[in-house]
Amino acid sequence: MILTRGSVPPVPHTEHRVKGRFTLEEIHGTYGFSGPHSRKIHLRGYPTEQIAPPVAAGYDLTPRAPKEAPPLQPYHLQTDRVNAGPDAMRARTALVFGPNTVVSVSRTSGSMPKDVFFRNGDKHELWFVQEGRGTLRSEYGDVKFRKNHYLVVPKGTTYRLDVNGPCWFLLVESTMPIDFAPHHLNRAGQATLMAPVVETEIVSPAFKPPVDRAGRFFVDVKHAGGRVTRLTIGHHPFDLAGWEGALFPFAFDILSHHGIARSIHTAPPAHQTFQSGSAPYNGFSICSFVPQMEGWDPKDVPAPYAHSNVDSDECMFFANASYGAREGVIRPGSMTFHPASVPHSPQGKAALRSLKGRGKMNHRLAVMLDTFFESLEVTEAGWRVRDAAYPLSWTKELST
Ligand SMILES: [Fe+2]
Repeated sequence: MILTRGSVPPVPHTEHRVKGRFTLEEIHGTYGFSGPHSRKIHLRGYPTEQIAPPVAAGYDLTPRAPKEAPPLQPYHLQTDRVNAGPDAMRARTALVFGPNTVVSVSRTSGSMPKDVFFRNGDKHELWFVQEGRGTLRSEYGDVKFRKNHYLVVPKGTTYRLDVNGPCWFLLVESTMPIDFAPHHLNRAGQATLMAPVVETEIVSPAFKPPVDRAGRFFVDVKHAGGRVTRLTIGHHPFDLAGWEGALFPFAFDILSHHGIARSIHTAPPAHQTFQSGSAPYNGFSICSFVPQMEGWDPKDVPAPYAHSNVDSDECMFFANASYGAREGVIRPGSMTFHPASVPHSPQGKAALRSLKGRGKMNHRLAVMLDTFFESLEVTEAGWRVRDAAYPLSWTKELST
């Protein structure tokens, strides 16, 4: 989807004046000069105007594995036990990570300090709002967010998160761009008529007039896997007279994922919302398990089968505790992490219990990430909030 906001020249890279002032063009692009991009029209100055030497920002987001490598096991991570931080960026706590993917939780009641901005220089971001509300303010405009929103923030976006009260986020980062799965879109970039998502249901940035101000403004840039460097810029970074393109931050309500049901159990690819990279060859898929009707075949078993998806590591974040296969084990904000090499299955009698749900609505709400050909490992922080009993939680009686 290509959006135009504010004042942009009709022909890229041509002279453009706003109220008589010569504007400066910047391209924010992916895949080199070949992927989705936006062109930004700066009123005041290039984003390169540093007025003090770069310094360490004073916090580090590098995922750290436990000092002693834990034995292979499935995990249940209780993310409500993750410590809160002063703002959404400094609260980012990586729980699981791999070479291209990081899964974190951020819990905070604070907005970022005045005149401080964040830019992820090495990963694209997908936030999921488990609790709270606020505003993502970016060079592209403001995106108001609330519980149940996904926030897609392309790598390189300069932004800040202002919160209204306590917030609890899941955050998935990827080296590769994150967007709606390409098979949901037709050649014009519209969602197909069979897709569970509709691209026009996104919340796009509400454009604001350019902030035309000199001063000292700080951009904390995450790079090199998690180091954060502070750049000091001589003008406010939100000085755009306009922008146009396909690369911008947006929100998407998980309940705008319109579930697809069938008469027998529906496998996860039917629940896919987003994709990173070229799934299923690399990158990952993000699935939204929203309330929907269970299979209505008189012999359907609504609970999933045990599965060994040998090329995928799976993280599943439970926004509520109504997911039948894990009922009694999880609570809101639980995240399971099932490495590819260990099969997982419904807990205890969940499969038998699920028969009662045939043809009825379930009330689940969960976000799932499946990597493709990328192994993940738990971090020190993830290890600290694990439910140590989880690996043995399948030992209850299986049938009556
Ligand atoms: Fe699974």
